[in-house]
Amino acid sequence: MNLRRLGPEYYDRLPIYPPGKPIEETAREFGLAEDQIAKLASNENVLGPSPKAVAAIQAALPKLNLYPDGSAFYLKEALCRRYSNYGVTFDHLLPANGTNEVIELLMKSILQPDEKIAVWTPTFIIYELCCRSNGRQVVHVPMDPDFTYGVDAMIQAIESDPKIKMVFLANPNNPTGSWVGADWMGEFIQRLPSEIVFILDEAYKEFVRAENQADGISIALGRPRTLTMRTFSKAYGLAGIRVGYGIGDRDMVALLNKARAPFNCNSLAQAAAVGALEDEEFLVASRELVENQLPALRRGLEGFGVKTWDSQTNFLLGDFQQPFDPLFPKFLEEGVILRPMTGYGLPTFARVNIGTEANHHRLWAACEKILG
Ligand SMILES: Cc1ncc(COP(=O)(O)O)c(C=O)c1O
Repeated sequence: MNLRRLGPEYYDRLPIYPPGKPIEETAREFGLAEDQIAKLASNENVLGPSPKAVAAIQAALPKLNLYPDGSAFYLKEALCRRYSNYGVTFDHLLPANGTNEVIELLMKSILQPDEKIAVWTPTFIIYELCCRSNGRQVVHVPMDPDFTYGVDAMIQAIESDPKIKMVFLANPNNPTGSWVGADWMGEFIQRLPSEIVFILDEAYKEFVRAENQADGISIALGRPRTLTMRTFSKAYGLAGIRVGYGIGDRDMVALLNKARAPFNCNSLAQAAAVGALEDEEFLVASRELVENQLPALRRGLEGFGVKTWDSQTNFLLGDFQQPFDPLFPKFLEEGVILRPMTGYGLPTFARVNIGTEANHHRLWAACEKILG
């Protein structure tokens, strides 16, 4: 029987996103208790979720029979309050099912069939996967040595390929932890052709400690065709409920609004996000944990011969100086889940996020056994 193809041809070449290995699965496979496992693979918040977000979720549960508020009124109101000094209004905001959904909506609504995105590599692999799953192409611009963002390389790529329509910049970047400051951003924006759509991904913004920070929201409100994205998954510990947002150019937000599903941001996610925005205490604790633990994590890894880079996030990129894929199951056996970076073209690397002191003890015991 000659059946019509099930899906588009470009799906045949599409890799599947490799998520961090879940704690439950690791416990089952290796006969470990779940509370013995240190999951340091997905840049999650090891403090748990924001308590105010959890209380807000509980308060919203009796209304689960109703569809969510499709306009996410209270979440937008809370975000406008949070960013009142920028003059943010409802029409600058797009709440979504995690920033992942904003990325998908951008690919779907902005790119015409022959248009491309450009990214510095290595970066968050979802940009590429979402782009390619929409049948569009990605132009990779290698980062400079030591994983820094080069302005010249990206501008040259854009000038030499008129099909490039949209550029993604993760600041700070996943998986490298690199970041750019206000001066870099000023130069880049000044040289970026005005018709290019600029997406600034600030998923880890709350962890940035550096001075002279680039201010994503003023950039997104000040430059047409610009959107910044933020998430509740990291600093607020809400990765499981899926809530993030885009903020920027009103015309872009209007377009994305047409592409989204009517109830894209579920009612518990909206409630949790409103609760989290009131939880300054949790935000401070999350930042402090990262500030206090990051130097120790870096020193510890370097002590085992793992090369690391400066990071302004809640994780470190480590070069184990030997293929990491064979080491990965050995770490799992010791109850430590790290994130191999082979899919990012970095076969000797793994990403390690900040854990609790107990998580780190387990990591050091595993390193001693495997690398020592
Ligand atoms: C750079 C970057 N952007 C976006 C996301 C996705 O965040 P969300 O959970 O809001 O979809 C991640 C998640 O790891 C990330 O690292």
